[in-house]
Amino acid sequence: MRELILAFESSCDETSVAVVENGTKILSNIIATQINSHKRFGGVVPEVASRHHVQQITRCTEEAMTEAGVTYADLTAVAVTYGPGLVGALLIGVTAAKTIAFAHHLPLIPVNHMAGHTYAASYVAPFHFPLLALLVSGGHTELVYMASAYDFQIIGDTRDDAVGEAYDKIGRVLGIPYPAGKPVDELAHQGQDTFHFPRAMMEEHNLDFSFSGLKSAFINTVHHAEQVGETLNKADLATSFQDAVLDILVGKTLRALQTHPVHQLVIAGGVAANQGLRTRMQAELAKLADPPQLLIPPLRLCGDNAAMIGAAAHVAYAQGIRGDLTLNADPSLSF
Ligand code: KG4
Ligand code: ZN
Repeated sequence: MRELILAFESSCDETSVAVVENGTKILSNIIATQINSHKRFGGVVPEVASRHHVQQITRCTEEAMTEAGVTYADLTAVAVTYGPGLVGALLIGVTAAKTIAFAHHLPLIPVNHMAGHTYAASYVAPFHFPLLALLVSGGHTELVYMASAYDFQIIGDTRDDAVGEAYDKIGRVLGIPYPAGKPVDELAHQGQDTFHFPRAMMEEHNLDFSFSGLKSAFINTVHHAEQVGETLNKADLATSFQDAVLDILVGKTLRALQTHPVHQLVIAGGVAANQGLRTRMQAELAKLADPPQLLIPPLRLCGDNAAMIGAAAHVAYAQGIRGDLTLNADPSLSF
């Protein structure tokens, strides 16, 4: 039986619509990014984001259907991200999905954005449980334990900033436009850790993260240098920041693996595109006697996209998860 899910994602600054077959095959994955409209503001402006989603969603839907070569009569269900994210942005996708589900008498599948990021990794290989996921994005830094399919237990979380947010904020003081993650990552490969920024909470026996101290230490260092007229090496600053981030992310993940042995380790979310993180995690896992299989989505599936929502929706659908026309956006939705 050919299951075809039309999936919507509009939680932040990407409008995306995809058609996914049987949860494993991406027939189309249209992504309209708004980054250029937000760059001059140094971050995502919610009202601007909503307006862009309204302008883009019909075109994206038509393109996704055409590229997939399917009609609405072929569809099995419609899926949509209903949280977490910007409420106005989420509402555009939720409204589009409800409209199509209603008009074509299709089941509606509500999907948590972070479940979507996690299941982006299922395009790499089928999931085998138990599984641990390190979810790193502009809004989240979480360690999630999955004992079985679609069962998400947060075992570690950030106490303050998300890691992607920290990249974007330190990027700003380096004069790098939003989103700064990729350029900082590239710069970090050209310098040395000369600043030795703090690695917060590494001594504590929990799985939580904190990035605000690191971010402040970085910003204070740059501002102090400006005040005394000293020029700092940007590559060394980026390397020092990224080394601290990787020590924290990889250190806490290895600690989680000790208490939660798993078959697979997923790294997902926008920051999973980080080359340093990919390399370091692989190297550290190789030192373990019985390492879990490492699954990281390809770069085009790390950032926000609807194909990941389609993959998660395939599993949610099998579990009987359904929404109806009362479905609302939930900006602070958690697992
Ligand atoms: O998952 P995502 O596309 O959107 C959210 O749900 O937040 O993640 C976006 C975040 C941004 O903060 C961006 O700077 C960061 O991912 N990012 C990176 C890299 N590529 C994107 N951070 C570090 N290294 C990268 N290569
Ligand atoms: Zn995201």
